Order: sequence, then structure tokens, then C-alpha cells
Amino acid sequence: MKRNLISMLDVKDDLERIIDLGIKLKKESKKGEAIELLKGKTLGMIFEKSSTRTRVSFEVGMTKLGGHAIFLSTNDIQLGRGETIEDTALVLSRYVDIIMYRAKSNKAMKELAKHATVPVISGLDDKEHPCQVITDLMTIKEHKSNLKGLNFVYLGDGKNNMAHSYLLGCGIAGMNIRIVSPKKYWPDEYYVKEAKKFGIKVEITDIVKNSTKDADVIATDTWVSMGDEKEKEKRIKEFQGYTTDKNIMKPAKSDAIFMHCLPAYYDYEVTKEVAHGKQSVIFDEAENRMWAQIAIIVTLSK
Ligand code: CP
Ligand code: NVA
Repeated sequence: MKRNLISMLDVKDDLERIIDLGIKLKKESKKGEAIELLKGKTLGMIFEKSSTRTRVSFEVGMTKLGGHAIFLSTNDIQLGRGETIEDTALVLSRYVDIIMYRAKSNKAMKELAKHATVPVISGLDDKEHPCQVITDLMTIKEHKSNLKGLNFVYLGDGKNNMAHSYLLGCGIAGMNIRIVSPKKYWPDEYYVKEAKKFGIKVEITDIVKNSTKDADVIATDTWVSMGDEKEKEKRIKEFQGYTTDKNIMKPAKSDAIFMHCLPAYYDYEVTKEVAHGKQSVIFDEAENRMWAQIAIIVTLSK
């Protein structure tokens, strides 16, 4: 049966295996070994929103696997002119071996996944960003060796795709998670409930002071996700006090790392001093998108 990746829960049984495969293939490829596990295979990539990392990392990743990727912007394909998601899914499934979709909504993502006869990977929607969180967990494992028992703190928009996928990802990996966010931006209850089912400590708070105490990992994301642009001015006011700066980093463990999926907006969700500082691993994360996704594509293609 075909497998999709549209929620972190889709990898709840083999998350660490995917992460370890990503780490292994990264090492092999860097040693100069060929990792052409998907020779002649094609990935179709549908983008309804902008991207730098997702597009380039999937495309280069497919090349490294000996395959090929096709970039399909909804500005250029018939989906953008009203062809149905169902017909798009059925047609693309006749050409390509796997589909990556960056969608405006989780509803559209589920609709595409329902009708495609080949695996569908989310390149983000309004509810989750699973490829990024698998990548981030791989990056944490590289830096900390182990995931279980670590304390993860996320500051900022607790209701966005990253926060939701972090909740599930921490649950699956056995990491405790604290979300620090204005009350209005607390996560959807569904993700909190699902995360708690894994038996981890889940805390949602609007109190910034000391919220990073004993943290192993501190993460943030933009306050204005794609699709929220109309609320930009309002959000900037509402998120005042939630900027990750050097004072926020202080109560964390001395070897804590800072993460951001990028793109970053400096002096809003994070200062450049922290994002480019010695605790930051943001460019490892950007690189690891490619290696984690290589592992994801290989796993879903089996
Ligand atoms: N982190 C991430 O998904 O970046 P892009 O929007 O550039 O793809
Ligand atoms: N939360 C951000 C992530 C960008 C990679 C957004 O959806 O715009």
C-alpha cells in the first residue's frame, strides 16, 4: 500500500529509522559514495506558495538519488486555473513516481493525497510541516547523539505548522516540549492532545521569563507565516516580548542549541546575534532538509 507523509503521525512507527537513514546516507554521500537508490524515478513538486529550501533540497536530493524532479508552480499549471485537485492527482500519478505538495490548506493536501495513486509528501500546509520537523530532529540527533528525554522549547506562533509538527515530533521522539506563545496563538487542542498520548511533558504558557530554563533546544519561527500577511502589523504588536535574544538563551543549558526553519526575520522572532551565534545550528538544518528528505523519499518509495 502507498504511504504518504502529510502529518508527523504518518511516521510515528519509523521516525528514528528515517533519521538514522538520513544521517547514514549523508555520511556515505560526503565520502564520495553514490547513493543512487532511485535511478530513473521522478518526483513532481507542486508549489502553491513560495520556497527556497524545499524546492532546492528536494530537487538536488532527487538528483543525488539518481532520479529527477519537476517544479510545478500553481501559477503555471491548470490547477491554478480551476482544474480539480482530484484530476491533477490522478493525472500526475500517471507520470511521476512520487508527489511533493506545498499547499495553502491541509484540506487541499488531504484531497490530493486521497486521489493520488503514488505517495504524497507534504512540503508544508497551514497545519503541519513534517519534512522540516523530521529534519530538525535529525539535526538535534547529530548534535546531541540522542533525542529521548531532551527538553525542547519553542517560542512564538504556537498555532502555526511548525509548532504543531514539533508537538507531534517531540511526542514520537520522547522529548519534552514547552510552547511559549501569547494565549491567542496557542496550538490547536488536537496537536496538544496527540502529543500528550506519547507520555511526554507538554506545557503551553504565555510567560516568557525563565521559559527556557534547562532547555536543550530552543526554536522559533516567523510570526507571520505564508497566508498570514494581512495580519502582519497586528501580529508584530501581539508578539512583542517573544523575540529570542541573548537574554532568552541564558537560562538554557550551556550547550543548548538554537533552531529556526528559515526564512528568518531578524529582530522580530529572533535577533541576528542569536541566529548567527555559536549556539545556532540553522544552516545545518537547512542542509539537512536534503538528507532527511532523501531518507523520506527512499522510505516512502519502498
Ligand atoms: N524552511 C522552509 O521550508 O523553507 P522554504 O520556505 O524556503 O522552503
Ligand atoms: N511557518 C512558516 C514556515 C516557513 C517555512 C510558514 O508557513 O510560512
